[in-house]
Parts: sequence; C-alpha cells; structure tokens
Amino acid sequence: MIRYYAKGIPLSADWQYKYMEKIVVRGGKPLLGSVEISGMKNAALPIIYATVLVGSKCVIENIPSVRDVAISFEILREMGAKIRMLSRDTYEIDCTHMDIEGVSPELFRKMRASYYLLGSELGRFGRAKVGFPGGCDFGERPIDQHIKGLQALGGTVELENGNISIEAEGGRLVGTNIFFDIVSVGATINIMLAAVTAAGTTVIDNPAREPHIVDLANFLNTCGANISGAGTDMIRIKGVERLHGCTYAIIPDMIEAGTFMIAAAAAGGCVRIDNVIPKHLESITAKLEEMGVEVEDQDDAVVVRRSGPLSRTSVKTHPYPGFPTDMHPQMTVLLSQAAGVSYLTEGVYENRFRYVDELRRMGASIKVDGRTAIVEGGEPLRGAPVKAVDLRAGVAMIIAGLVAVGETEVTEIGLIERGYDDIVGKLQRIGADIERVVIPDPEQALPRAN
Ligand code: UD1
Repeated sequence: MIRYYAKGIPLSADWQYKYMEKIVVRGGKPLLGSVEISGMKNAALPIIYATVLVGSKCVIENIPSVRDVAISFEILREMGAKIRMLSRDTYEIDCTHMDIEGVSPELFRKMRASYYLLGSELGRFGRAKVGFPGGCDFGERPIDQHIKGLQALGGTVELENGNISIEAEGGRLVGTNIFFDIVSVGATINIMLAAVTAAGTTVIDNPAREPHIVDLANFLNTCGANISGAGTDMIRIKGVERLHGCTYAIIPDMIEAGTFMIAAAAAGGCVRIDNVIPKHLESITAKLEEMGVEVEDQDDAVVVRRSGPLSRTSVKTHPYPGFPTDMHPQMTVLLSQAAGVSYLTEGVYENRFRYVDELRRMGASIKVDGRTAIVEGGEPLRGAPVKAVDLRAGVAMIIAGLVAVGETEVTEIGLIERGYDDIVGKLQRIGADIERVVIPDPEQALPRAN
C-alpha cells in the first residue's frame, strides 16, 4: 500500500482513500451504448445485516462492489462471520458463530446502515449493542422512530459511551402494533428485522414502501419468516421460532439506474440501461419525459435518448413511489441545462443542499430558499475543481463534468465509491472522457475550506 503524508503526518487508510485520488472528466461528449446496473446498495446492506438474524449459511447474489458493503463485511467478520466470495457479485455469508461485543466504534461510524444490527441482534440474541451510525450529512438524522419501535416490542434501551444497547425483556421481543410518525426506510427495516422472531404478531402502520423494503421481506420470507404487506401502507409480521439459510439475488439499484438515465439526458446521446426494473424508475422516467427526453421501457431495460433542448420543470422529492431524494443533486444538474427557471424542493431531509456551492463554482445559477433550489438554467457549465460533499452529490459533480465545457476535477471521491460500483469504468464504456487519477501532491489533496 502506498503511504501518503501531508505536512509530514502520515494519513490514515481512510484519509488516503478519501483524499488521494480524484476523478477527472472532460465534458462535451454524448453518451452512447449500454450499461449494466449492479445490485441495489440499499437492499444489499439490510440483507447482509439480516444474515446475522438468520444465523446460518446464506448465499447472496448480485451484491454491488461498493465501499459500504466492504465495511459491512468488515463489521460482520469482526463479529465472527465467515464470508467467502464465490464470484464478483456473489458471497456466501455464514453467521453461525457470532459475538455482538468487540466491534470497533469507528467501524459503525463509517456508515449509516450498520444500525440494522440493532434489529438483527435483538431478534437473534434478545440483546443488541451497536455504535452510533455515520453516513451522509443531510442535517439532523435522528433515530427516534427506530428506538420507539424497538421499545414498543419490549426492548429496554440504554445510550452510553457512543453505543446503543437494547435488551429484550425475558430474552425475546413481543409483537405489537407500531405507528410511525414519519415514513422512515431505516426504522421500517429495523422493526421488520426485530419482529421476525418476536412472539406473536407485529403490525407496522405507515411504513416506508421502497423496493428495498420489499426485497428485504422477500429475503426474510425465503429464510422462513412470515411477512406480508411489504410495499403497502401496512406490514404484518407473524413471529416465527427460527429462520434457515437460503440463496437469494438482490434487486437492481434504481438509484444507480436513475443516475445513468440523468447522465444520458444531460450529456445527450442514447444509452440502454440494462438489468433494471422499469416500474421502480417511473417517477424518474415521468420527469425526464416532461423535460423532453425520450425514455423507452423494455422488459428489464430502459433506453434513454436525448437529441433536442430540455424543458424547465418543478420537482419535489418524496418517499417511494415519489421522486427519490437520492436523485436530488443529479436532477439539479439536469435542471441547470434547461432554459428558464426550474424548482427542486427537498421533501425528505432538512438540508441536502451542500452541493449547490460546488455547482456554483462551475457557473450554475442556483439560489436556495428554505428547502427549495431555484435553478436558472440554460447557460453552459464550465469545468472546475469541485468536491464530492456526499455520495449522491459526488456523482452529480461527475454528471456536471460530463456537460461542462473543459475539465472538471472531482475530489474526495471515496464518498462516491461508498455507493457506486465502477462508476468510472461504466461511464468510459459509454463514451465519457473520464478517468481516476492519483493526486500527485498530498498537501493539495487536503480538504479545502469552503
Ligand atoms: C435511507 C437510505 C438513504 C435514503 C433514505 C430516504 C439506506 C442505507 N439509506 O436512509 O440513501 O436517502 O433512506 O430514501 O438505505 N427520520 C426521523 N427519525 C427516525 C428516522 C428518520 O426523523 O427515527 C427522518 C430523517 O431524518 C429523514 C427522514 O426521516 O428526514 C427519512 O429518513 P429515513 O427514511 O430513515 O432514511 P435512512 O433510512 O437513514
């Protein structure tokens, strides 16, 4: 491994990963050809953590090669799991022997989804101990709905030294009715995991309806759980005594697919996006068509074609089946290419606009008023040095680079690689002028003050 220094101090492995490489994009080339979408990160993560609950050997196919998956494997291995790679995207995960103590708190802080261990450990061992999660910074990201649900199932919660510890009274949770005050993907998943082996029936009212909720339910049911209603506004879970291992394939990543759809719409050209479920992409397809982009649904592909100018529009992000918040920054880049004033309102997070300053460096004219970005579009963007402020914002910078005049350098790309499998290779294969380069002078690579 290369050891990088800045101001004479060796950088930790994390820093090296985050700061020592950049993505360089030279804009102005249309995208042409086809791209294969990987398995969905946000389905793979809960399913990987659910194997702890299952407690025997599972073979999981279509796992994306992204950093959040690698960190999750590291966490599971620290707990004693045996994980074997069977092919590029297929892993055997054996959680027969596990110990919930002893995972380093820094590992939990490296990602958001590590908190799915709360539900899995409680369901399997009757107690859980997890460090506070990290993840992208979109303002406050409380976990009160997770805690409220786990308490309702009979968990006693203690928060100390950066850990969340929960004990089930009598060693087993008891099913009950839970009403979520807000729609939360994470809380829905945690309660589903915890309730699978609880005594009696749990009903979740007002759950999230995202495709990955359905995928997790399908995985758990394949392992012997009894979950119905996933994907609707009420989920019913009849507790079972135990689960068994299975072989399961993760669904395609709708956010990765949507990102390539917007890249093709922004850069122009014609791209077939393979290995998708077109139904999951409906809200994105509808907006693109409204803007004058042609989208053709096939069985497991969508073809995106843009030849003419884009029309302005308004977008508001919502929980599924609404327009996804994880497509917000990419969509703002596209809106910057449509003549006239467009609006993008963030309906899920309190602050997801940190990327706007970066786009302004490239000449975009965007004002933020409360939770709405007001985009005056139609002027060409100019290549500039920008950074990835979070996962989806980072990929939005790449899309901005594809349409900009000149060269764009995106730094802090470790954030992008948390959730995109081979983004540079996939874009190169459809004609983008993009590469990943090592930053020659480490001191230049240190985080820039804004
Ligand atoms: C998941 C996704 C993330 C996506 C988000 C919304 C993973 C690993 N991450 O995040 O990519 O952007 O869904 O689609 O799957 N909230 C509370 N209390 C809680 C829980 C959430 O107030 O207990 C709020 C959040 O602050 C946010 C909103 O609810 O404003 C939605 O969050 P949630 O759906 O829980 O997102 P995550 O599961 O963290």
